[in-house]
Order: sequence, then structure tokens, then C-alpha cells
Amino acid sequence: DLYTLIMAGGSGTRFWPSSKTVKPKQYLNIFGDKSLLQDTIERFATFTKKENIYIVSSATQAKILEEQTPMLPKENLIYEPIGRNTLPCIGLAAMYAERENQDGVMVVSPSDHLIKNNALFEDTVLAAAKIANERDGIVTLGITPTYPATGYGYVKTAEDITGDEKIKQFKVERFVEKPDEATATNYLKQGGFYWNSGLFVFKVSVFLKAVEQFAPDLYADLRKIQADLGNPGYPETLDTIYRAVESISVDYGIMEHAKNIYLVEGNFDWNDLGSWESVYQTDEKDENGNAGKGEAIFLDSNNSYVSTDDGLVAVVGLDDVIVVRDGNTTLVCKRDNAEDIKKIVEQLKAKN
Ligand code: GDD
Ligand code: MG
Repeated sequence: DLYTLIMAGGSGTRFWPSSKTVKPKQYLNIFGDKSLLQDTIERFATFTKKENIYIVSSATQAKILEEQTPMLPKENLIYEPIGRNTLPCIGLAAMYAERENQDGVMVVSPSDHLIKNNALFEDTVLAAAKIANERDGIVTLGITPTYPATGYGYVKTAEDITGDEKIKQFKVERFVEKPDEATATNYLKQGGFYWNSGLFVFKVSVFLKAVEQFAPDLYADLRKIQADLGNPGYPETLDTIYRAVESISVDYGIMEHAKNIYLVEGNFDWNDLGSWESVYQTDEKDENGNAGKGEAIFLDSNNSYVSTDDGLVAVVGLDDVIVVRDGNTTLVCKRDNAEDIKKIVEQLKAKN
């Protein structure tokens, strides 16, 4: 049986104003009538049991998470007292899963990606699960890089172990999280590198062994938390211990150090949707290159994006802009500056 862990505790500051802290990116209906999180759940529910789909999120997001997940058993929602990045998040879920089946294979997925081509996605995950099972490895799904992005992990492949499988698979030489642009450019020139999609597959026991080896303090803390699971004092134990663990991503904490890493090539359409700009890129455009969601009029405007949750937005005589209207907040931004939106959130935080 396959377990799925969907990580849904991020805050998505580049999606302001639609991502105010109560509603981070994964809960937004960026394209259709379902949120990215709901799309993610559905993608897994077509080939895994719903009872085996777990979500880890931050306690501050409990309300919206429950609203959006009526299809899952409530006990499958795991809350962190506070976000501590992805390594403690996965470690916590692994502790829960271990009690059920320590040799179970777990698929870890972000909650905020756009993936099309669900059938190929399923085949790829199943291929990864097979490797995880047979080789006791930590498997990442790799995406063929198209430009020297600095927001992704890079995976250098070693021996090709595809054999007569349909989907390409490799042993991994090394994993480098978010290199600078010069390094990324160099990787693309060298070849043999993939982007880390942020989707990982492993046996619970294999992952916990890696935590023990590369993050022993966290491992000890997780064992203490686990020992109290089910007891009346558990919430307090979790709260006290979890708040004190180091905040670190699985990429820096495990993937850059572990030796038993494998990669399966992901050929499904994948987009990390890191910003409004990437939403614009992915969205369907009209004949003037405009796109968006909600009611919008473009007059003498090209290559622009509008998202409005309520009310009409008109753009006149402007090219290459992003306009987002959410409740009583409006954003107007040049497309080139879409990455700077997170600075607004920082400024607002500093003010409050
Ligand atoms: N529960 C929980 N708690 N979830 C979290 C937390 C946390 O503290 N922090 C992040 N997440 C969730 C986010 O909601 C997202 O779904 C996922 O974990 C990944 O976190 P991001 O913060 O979006 O990571 P990233 O995009 O910077 O980098 C990762 O993803 C890239 C691909 O999109 C890395 O794995 C990179 O190597 C990878 O290339
Ligand atoms: Mg991300």
C-alpha cells in the first residue's frame, strides 16, 4: 500500500494579496473551481486509497484546510504547532506512518504545483515506488530543466538503471539545493542534471534512518513526540518539542547528504507556480496575450494578467502588467517585478 503525504504548510508570499496568511497559495483557486491542494488530493485519489492520504499543515491553517478537505478522513489531517519547514514536517508524518507500517512506501508531495497528464504522473510515481521498495532508496521525481532557475534543487544523475522499464531512472550522484545562477547555468551546460520536483518516494524506515544519520537532534525529538502519541499530554508535548526543532528543508537536511538517492524522470507537465508570473505563463491567453480569472476588460492592452475574486477590473493602454483584486486589496505590478511581491508582505509584516 502506498501512503501519500501532502505538505500544505507553506505561506506563498509571492501570491499576495490573494495569499494573506490565512489563505496561502495551496488553497487558492488559481485556475478553475478547485484549489491547488484539492487538485493534488484528486491526483493521488485516482490511484491510492483516500484513507492513506495524509496532509500536514500548520495549526493556523486548520480552518481552511478542513473546509477544503471534506473528502478525507479528519484524522488524516496532521497539524504542526508552527511551520518548521519540510524536514520536520516529513519526519512527523513518518513517525505516524511508522506505527502503522514501517515498511510502507510513502510519497511526499507539495500541495501547490500544477500538474497535468495525470495518467503519466501515476505511472511515474509507481515506478518510483518500485525503486524505493527494491533498492531501499530515497527517490525524487526529476524534471528536465529549461532555464537556469535558482529556486529549485538540481539533481546530477549517475548510472542509468532504466533497464526495460518505460520511464527513465537513474542513480543520483549528487543533489544541490537552490544553486546561484552562475552555477545553475553551468549545470545546464554540463548536462545530466534535473530539477528536483519536490516529490519524493521512500520506505518510511529508510527515511527515518536518514533522519537519524543526518539530523540526529531532530530524530531524537521526533522519537520523544512519538512516544507520547495517543496520551492526554500529547498536544503539549508536540507543542513544546516541535517549536524548538530547527527549521530546515528536507533538501538541505537530507537530500544533499544521503547516498542512496535515485531519480525517476517526470515527463508530465509540471509547473511550480512560484509567482503570478508563472501563473500567467501557464494560463491560456487570448489573441492579445492576455489571461486571467474573473471579470476583466482589456482595452489596448497586451500580455497582461488579471485575477479578480469579485468585481470587474478594466486595464486600458497598459502592457505586461499583473492586476490582482482580492477583497479590499488591489495589486498592480509590472510582470518583470512579480518576484518582488514578497517584499510587500515583508513590509506589511514589519508595519504590524
Ligand atoms: N506542513 C508544512 N510545514 N508544509 C510546508 C512547510 C512547513 O513548515 N514549509 C513548506 N511546506 C510545503 C509547501 O506548502 C509546499 O507545498 C512544499 O512544502 C514545498 O515547500 P516550498 O517552500 O514551496 O519549497 P520550495 O519551492 O522553496 O523548494 C522545494 O520545491 C522545489 C520544487 O518546487 C525544494 O524541494 C526544491 O528542491 C524543489 O526544486
Ligand atoms: Mg515551492
